[in-house]
Amino acid sequence: MLRITDLTKIFNSTVRAVDGLNLEVASGEVYTMLGANGAGKTTTINLILNFIEPTSGEIWVNDINVVKNPLDAKRNLAYVSENVMLYENLNAYQNLGFFAELAGKKQIRFDEMNQILNRVGLTKEQCHRKLKTYSKGMRQKCGIAIAILKQAKLILLDEPTSGLDPKSGKEFLDLLCEFREEGKTVFMTTHDIFRARAIADKIGIMNDGKLLREITRSEIESINLEKIYIEYIDQKTAA
Ligand SMILES: Nc1ncnc2c1ncn2[C@@H]1O[C@H](COP(=O)(O)OP(=O)(O)O)[C@@H](O)[C@H]1O
Ligand SMILES: [Mg+2]
Repeated sequence: MLRITDLTKIFNSTVRAVDGLNLEVASGEVYTMLGANGAGKTTTINLILNFIEPTSGEIWVNDINVVKNPLDAKRNLAYVSENVMLYENLNAYQNLGFFAELAGKKQIRFDEMNQILNRVGLTKEQCHRKLKTYSKGMRQKCGIAIAILKQAKLILLDEPTSGLDPKSGKEFLDLLCEFREEGKTVFMTTHDIFRARAIADKIGIMNDGKLLREITRSEIESINLEKIYIEYIDQKTAA
């Protein structure tokens, strides 16, 4: 569903934000990219979204090249972040209606919107409020509702669990599990080792733009993820 080959992004001729990245995420898989600040996680997401162009390398979403066919690629994906472009002066229903139209859905029924918004855990009272009054968690729920509405095959999340309270964090993980059961593919970044372990089919450890290690679900159970993660980060600082 997502394939990245030899991806490099150099900023200002000097900063190798992403450095020779290769990875693959199969349909229905949850891939979690761990890495400290500055590892290159957000840059990777921005490249997948074609917000910025790679210096070299290729990215394929559902076998569509994101640089050559950005619009086709975008139809297959949804991006959820607290800073995602939601309309601050509109309420949740109006935001959903707007994005439905953008996604080419002419009309969306009120009960359909209610069903989705209820599923992501926004109450009716909250849905009637303008987005500018929303907390980070509520904003994210609205973003996820839009991803559901778009029927995106690939969902990209940049540090979705940072700043969520424990209950919202748990609800969020439950939603990701449902997505996986529906065959949706998830690529998310985090520095939250605990949640990465709870949800991921595959974990990547990134540092200095490089993917240092990949850990599969079957390994996750038997290893000390925290120890391995710290070791990789330490190796880098010691070098
Ligand atoms: N637009 C940009 N211009 C110059 N440098 C950038 C830009 N965006 C990111 N970087 C640099 O690229 C590196 C990776 O950043 P980023 O992808 O945001 O890391 P992460 O999301 O893992 O914290 C950092 O050194 C950062 O300063
Ligand atoms: Mg980041």
